[in-house]
Amino acid sequence: MQDFIFSNKTKIYFGKNQLHNLSEEIKRFGKKVLLVYGGGSIKRIGLYDKVIDELNKSGAQFFELAGVEPNPRHTTVNRGAEICKKENVDVLLAVGGGSTIDCTKAIAAAAKYDGDDCWDLITHKAEVNETLPIISVLTLSATGSEMDGGCVISNVDTNEKYGYFAVDNNPDVSFLDPTNTYTVNAYQTASGSADIMSHIFDVAYFSKQDEMDMLLRIQEEVLRTVVKYAPIAIEKPDDYDARANLMWASSWALNDFLYDGLSQETACHRMEHELSAFYDITHGHGLAILTPRWLSYILDEETAPRIKRFGVNVLGVDYSLGEMDGAKESIRQIEKFFFEELKLQSKLSDLGIGEENFALMAKKACRKKGKIEAFTTLYPEDVENIFRMCL
Ligand code: NZQ
Ligand code: ZN
Repeated sequence: MQDFIFSNKTKIYFGKNQLHNLSEEIKRFGKKVLLVYGGGSIKRIGLYDKVIDELNKSGAQFFELAGVEPNPRHTTVNRGAEICKKENVDVLLAVGGGSTIDCTKAIAAAAKYDGDDCWDLITHKAEVNETLPIISVLTLSATGSEMDGGCVISNVDTNEKYGYFAVDNNPDVSFLDPTNTYTVNAYQTASGSADIMSHIFDVAYFSKQDEMDMLLRIQEEVLRTVVKYAPIAIEKPDDYDARANLMWASSWALNDFLYDGLSQETACHRMEHELSAFYDITHGHGLAILTPRWLSYILDEETAPRIKRFGVNVLGVDYSLGEMDGAKESIRQIEKFFFEELKLQSKLSDLGIGEENFALMAKKACRKKGKIEAFTTLYPEDVENIFRMCL
């Protein structure tokens, strides 16, 4: 395996009785705060009022950016950066799911950029080496944005959705209270759970790279955790243990710990970002539809053993099956989990998506090198075939 450096700066407050620490954390970073949130769920669940109490306790002056969209828009990032520049904001406070936290990360970078369009940064036409500090309060277990440095921003004018990594863009502090996710509905809980699993699949587990056995075993345990607790959280939304396990699994699935020494492109994420760029669908749902079709498409003598191992160690597939039969059974069990247990619709056509843009989307998914180098190498024609299998 490759040499690696592991570092993750995010300080985590985990649990039900932690939010009273927010005012002190705000004080560490300054006196002017931009509060960022989405379409109103934080008001409906009573979290907004608690956050405002903490802001008042901190003595900070604060400004608000409301209405961050699921699949956050670059125009919303620009609005946030403008407030930061005009008001000399010291620290950003994101309260919401991955979209809100991602939008906040992009604002943190754009606020330090002399230009007025963050899209220059997202597309790497310009670089910034400095960002504003970020505190997050997570309300949906899915993306891992609460403990990683990435963000994903959409430009709906051009049907583009790109991941962006700025220097030092992890949240400095994240508050993870599982009770804040009790109100996440069954659909978002299922989609978020598929996203958590896909991070592990895409970044590390379905890989031919030489990796540390310890990490592979932990990846399987995190995957088993999601398989156990996602159905419980859907059945009983206020089950604390289920919500807590999903929340910490979400952070661990993408906080780099599980991927030390590994680097590969993320096949399903590349493909899914094109789906949500063109059709504004829920990210985790797109991944659930793609994953079993992708695995079926790339199944061969070389990929079968790892796919079978996943089924045996995570989904209870019979070890005595041969490599190929075991791998096929694993894929059937993944479908069963996503589409029967989590009740996600199984086809792109269920979401109103047809084949009209597949060729263009496939080309864009491979834009970096003309291919995606993952578990197997995918060329645009492969990506197009996989999209078609999902119809
Ligand atoms: O807008 P609000 O009112 O907050 O409602 C949201 C939204 O409608 C709602 N919600 C959130 N918390 C809730 C709640 N509803 C009731 N109770 C709560 N406690 O759920 C809906 C979806 O929220 P969103 O933030 O969009 O979901 P998610 O956390 O899945 O984030 C998805 C975005 O993150 C990106 C995705 O591409 C997508 O744009 N990703 C970010 C990554 C990263 N930063 O590393 C990696 C991922 O692979 C992913 O690409
Ligand atoms: Zn994801």
